[in-house]
Amino acid sequence: MELYIDDANIEAIKRLIDLYPIDGVTTNPSILAKARKDPKELLSEIRRIIGEDRILFVQALPLDAKGMIEDAKKIVESFGSNTIVKIPSIPEGFKAIKELKKEGIRTCGTVVYTPLQAYLAAKAGASYVAPYVNRIDNMGYDGVAVVKKIQNILENNGFDCKILAASFKNSNQVLELCEYGVGAATCSADVIDSFVNNAAIDKAVDDFVKDFEKLTGKHSMKEVL
Ligand code: E4P
Repeated sequence: MELYIDDANIEAIKRLIDLYPIDGVTTNPSILAKARKDPKELLSEIRRIIGEDRILFVQALPLDAKGMIEDAKKIVESFGSNTIVKIPSIPEGFKAIKELKKEGIRTCGTVVYTPLQAYLAAKAGASYVAPYVNRIDNMGYDGVAVVKKIQNILENNGFDCKILAASFKNSNQVLELCEYGVGAATCSADVIDSFVNNAAIDKAVDDFVKDFEKLTGKHSMKEVL
């Protein structure tokens, strides 16, 4: 499963990229608004931090296909070819995804709440589809179950499209989808940190350090070898 940072906070991105095996950064207009910075400068800085090899997801703003296509071209021109344009999975969005596919611009069908929305985005030619796990849970449905259904649809129809599961509020939601083998998940910094946030892990590593110190008075193998 690919793992993305669903955040535009520069310090968080630098820290997570340094520590974890991260495949890129996903943004949306609300995430950009939260950062309260010029979007062009902010996205350029994120691109500098993550390098050209990692993927950056940037969302097109217009709600009509023509506008989405114009935004998509400008986004890829501005932030490089390893940028995927998020397009809302609405009727005009499917039209834009079809056209962008023909022009070789990769897209992610976003704002996915239902399996058939994902089906249409994948069939239109999206490289990723982004179902919103926690928002679906909050509507009284089972977000993880919806994503599993989408995974079955993609696999059983042979679509060349991955799931970018999004809108997580806890690591258990991510765990279930990782076990199921979905293509990608995008999580906020605190959810990624929670993968290893565990007192038993902290105690185990502390005990190793203390036991070795008792034996040798040292804190590394290089001091005793
Ligand atoms: C990512 O692509 C989505 O836009 C995002 O994960 C939505 O998350 P939220 O439900 O926390 O806003």
